[in-house]
Amino acid sequence: MKRKKTPETPDVCVPVRATTKKKLKERVGERHPEDLTGKKKPEACEDVLLKKKKRKEKPGHVDDEESADVVESRRSGELVPAGTEMDGVEDEEEEEELSPEEMRVLERKLKKIRKKEEKKKQKEEAKGQKATPLLHKTDRLYTNHVTGGSCPSKARIPGKTVVITGANTGIGKETARELARRGGRIIMGCRDMGKCEEAAREIRGSTLNPHVYARHVDLASIKSVRRFAEEINREEDRVDILINNAGVMRCPPGKTEDGFDMQLGVNYLGHFLLTNLLLDKLRDSAPSRVINLSSLAHAVGEIDFEDLNWDRKKFNTKKAYCQSKLAVVLFTRELARRLEGTRVTVSALHPGVVATDLGRHTGMHQSHFSSTVLSPVFFLLTKSPELGAQPGVYLSVAEELAGVSGRYYDVMTEKDPAPQALDRETAIKLWDISASLVGLETTVSPPSSPSL
Ligand SMILES: NC(=O)c1ccc[n+]([C@@H]2O[C@H](COP(=O)([O-])OP(=O)(O)OC[C@H]3O[C@@H](n4cnc5c(N)ncnc54)[C@H](OP(=O)(O)O)[C@@H]3O)[C@@H](O)[C@H]2O)c1
Repeated sequence: MKRKKTPETPDVCVPVRATTKKKLKERVGERHPEDLTGKKKPEACEDVLLKKKKRKEKPGHVDDEESADVVESRRSGELVPAGTEMDGVEDEEEEEELSPEEMRVLERKLKKIRKKEEKKKQKEEAKGQKATPLLHKTDRLYTNHVTGGSCPSKARIPGKTVVITGANTGIGKETARELARRGGRIIMGCRDMGKCEEAAREIRGSTLNPHVYARHVDLASIKSVRRFAEEINREEDRVDILINNAGVMRCPPGKTEDGFDMQLGVNYLGHFLLTNLLLDKLRDSAPSRVINLSSLAHAVGEIDFEDLNWDRKKFNTKKAYCQSKLAVVLFTRELARRLEGTRVTVSALHPGVVATDLGRHTGMHQSHFSSTVLSPVFFLLTKSPELGAQPGVYLSVAEELAGVSGRYYDVMTEKDPAPQALDRETAIKLWDISASLVGLETTVSPPSSPSL
């Protein structure tokens, strides 16, 4: 209720009506600063019109702001004190009530406004629909290739022994740390014992798992790989998980101790030999798992049986890396086939794009421009080694992967590898050549009725 003082009746209560055109404008204006001529919100007009209609329909209707005592006095037939609603301003306003014509005009305006609003809404929705799939795709791309997320399995591995190569830095070190955190016994195989001891100490400290050990292995040396395998076979009761992680990418032309191309030798041949030498242990520890770090780069790889080690043709470091990672996928599939029924499973993995030292031989790490100007951009497109380790951890522990073998994973999603990685003949030929190159007299033979 509002009180108005008039000169005649200083203390009389006057109800203020909102049913007049002026009041109506004021009320709409109060809620919406835009004027009534086209810009106000349609709901506001609608509200007013509806209220107005209802009031009209109601017998003996009274306005919202009308005072309870005036209503009461009306009902009881009492006279309202002089100078109240019949007086001055109020009387004038009563006469200005919206006419049916004005109501129609207002309704027409309301219709127009609502039409406009509807069109605007439709436009926005259409825009949204266009934008959503792209955003969704970008988001998925970002999630899969850049972040990839964490291993969904919380499985712990107490009593299990993990052997992991190249574990002093990057993906290998973080994989070792995560598996140590989950209670495993971790054997870190590295070529630099200083770095390896230091990393092992750090992992023991951060996980409070004392069973993290540093061992020497140089994947660029058959002798070293044999010695490492012998040590493990002699000292360890079991090997439940073997992670062939060590790698070099796009290094300058160079050969391993045994004359193999450096990338083929470290990334593939060294691991081919190591895995074969640990197979009895893996079989005895079954169910056990072998995880081979490959790369998306395998997709453009080609196996050149005529010149595997780049002895004759002009060296191309990119192609050499891609060939080595294709060899890893072919090896994974062939080993899985040969191990059918043994409960030793094998997987190949592209871990995503991870910010590690892997690119140390590339222009990115060497040029000042790249490392200062491009590296912030690169940083946005890569994930941390901790996240980069998650796919390997997933393949090592995920319960749902028990018994699953011979598959290729892009981060944590199983994918078809490139067609050239599916070629059985190439895989068998590569196996035989590799066995002879590394001097393996006997290797596991393929099953008589293969299902892979
Ligand atoms: N980072 C990525 O975006 C990415 C993408 C696809 C695939 N991958 C694969 O993931 C694996 C791990 O790479 P990363 O990114 O963690 O690289 P990284 O940080 O460079 O780590 C590579 C590890 O391999 C070791 N290593 C190199 N040559 C060796 C040898 N002859 N003997 C023993 N160890 C050797 C390195 O030891 P030193 O420290 O002594 O050199 C290091 O511990 C590699 O197989 C790589 O091809 C990585």
